[in-house]
Amino acid sequence: MKTLLYIKVSPRNNRSHSHKTASAFLSAYQQKNPQDKIETIDLFKLSLPEFDNSTAQAKYAIMHGEEKTTEQVKKWANVEETIQQFKSADKYLLSTPMWNFGIPYKLKHYIDIIVQPGYTFGFSEAGYKGLAGGKPLCIIYARGGSYDENSPMDFQKKYLDMIFGFIGFSEIKTIICQPTLGDKETVEKAQDKAITDAKAIADEF
Ligand SMILES: Cc1cc2nc3c(=O)[nH]c(=O)nc-3n(C[C@H](O)[C@H](O)[C@H](O)COP(=O)(O)O)c2cc1C
Repeated sequence: MKTLLYIKVSPRNNRSHSHKTASAFLSAYQQKNPQDKIETIDLFKLSLPEFDNSTAQAKYAIMHGEEKTTEQVKKWANVEETIQQFKSADKYLLSTPMWNFGIPYKLKHYIDIIVQPGYTFGFSEAGYKGLAGGKPLCIIYARGGSYDENSPMDFQKKYLDMIFGFIGFSEIKTIICQPTLGDKETVEKAQDKAITDAKAIADEF
């Protein structure tokens, strides 16, 4: 039995295009892999640890090989718990809206928690090495407008491909739902295409 971790970002529930696409993916996946477990993290409902002064100091204490204070130990335990939950999955589905050409702040917060030296990446004289990857990851993007692969305004896909690549994910599948704002027919067509792509990828995932 494998565990698929679904990281849901949009707070818009049933009106969310990214979530609608993810639901189609998960139904197709569950049908194909009935023995697998699907765990969901809903980032707008989750209380993530603040990366405040003592949490940041804990991170630097680890990097400099220094003792952590009692408060720093407590704060760091919350960070470790979030990282362990992330790392314990076998496969990953992430669905996210584009907000201001990038990602919603809750997803950035989650990334700031889980991307940590010694946990999800390492470095040596040979350079950086991802420690969390070698596992399948599929990212679903929803955007009000339309952006082509080389758009200079896209800080959403470019950033997520980079950061998940940095922590070791080499097999990243992409599903794009765009445009989600505009005339009804165009939006429905975009949603239908994203759902078709989601089912096809889920079938092989
Ligand atoms: C705060 C906010 C910022 C947004 N910024 C952009 C943007 O920069 N570019 C864009 O194309 N759409 C933008 N949108 C529109 C969303 O990307 C679009 O509605 C998308 O479908 C949201 O994903 P969802 O349907 O899964 O919630 C923004 C929406 C919100 C709420």
